[in-house]
Amino acid sequence: MKTSEPAFQPSSTTIRAVTAVDRERIKRLIEARWGAPQVVVHDTIYHPSELQGFLAADGENICGLVTFHIEAEACEIVSLDALLPRAGIGTALVEAVSEVAYAAKCRRLWLVTTNDNLDALRFYLRRGFRLVAVHSGAVDRARLLKPSIPEVGASGIPMHDELELERKLAY
Ligand SMILES: CC(C)(COP(=O)(O)OP(=O)(O)OC[C@H]1O[C@@H](n2cnc3c(N)ncnc32)[C@H](O)[C@@H]1OP(=O)(O)O)[C@@H](O)C(=O)NCCC(=O)NCCS
Repeated sequence: MKTSEPAFQPSSTTIRAVTAVDRERIKRLIEARWGAPQVVVHDTIYHPSELQGFLAADGENICGLVTFHIEAEACEIVSLDALLPRAGIGTALVEAVSEVAYAAKCRRLWLVTTNDNLDALRFYLRRGFRLVAVHSGAVDRARLLKPSIPEVGASGIPMHDELELERKLAY
């Protein structure tokens, strides 16, 4: 399925691919948003500043970032951040990655998020993703590698598990 939900974007915001000159800013952004320059998911350490990605930018101001990793006909969204919420940036960034995944002949677009992140769960489920697995204790294991992951997350929910979501890409 090649989904192309129309994205509502502020007229001055553009989506563009990450380039080498963006790497240092991305590192700082990830550190500010996720507590460290690395992201630990499904027992894997990623450095988003070294991955492919797209930026939502308003002039020099970054207002959104998505990073991703393609392997074995699957495209994983490693990080997604909309600094200006509810303006269509998250949707536009996911669709930009989806286009790349489709062009690369990936069979699925997928990601994991933490069990407290009900906003992200809602966001992805509304955009054609399905919940395909719950990885019990995966966040507890990630915390051993990245101690800055809090014990308690959004809405006061204890963080223990990872939710795996995917959208199939059909040709
Ligand atoms: C989850 C996240 C990426 C969503 O990004 P976002 O830019 O707010 O998402 P969008 O604006 O595209 O869509 C969110 C909602 O706002 C609505 N919206 C978009 N533009 C709007 C506008 N101008 N006015 C009112 N609502 C609007 C969308 O329709 C959507 O609603 P829906 O889900 O009911 O369809 C963002 O909340 C975020 O960065 N969260 C923190 C990090 C995180 O959890 N990342 C995901 C895990 S990796």
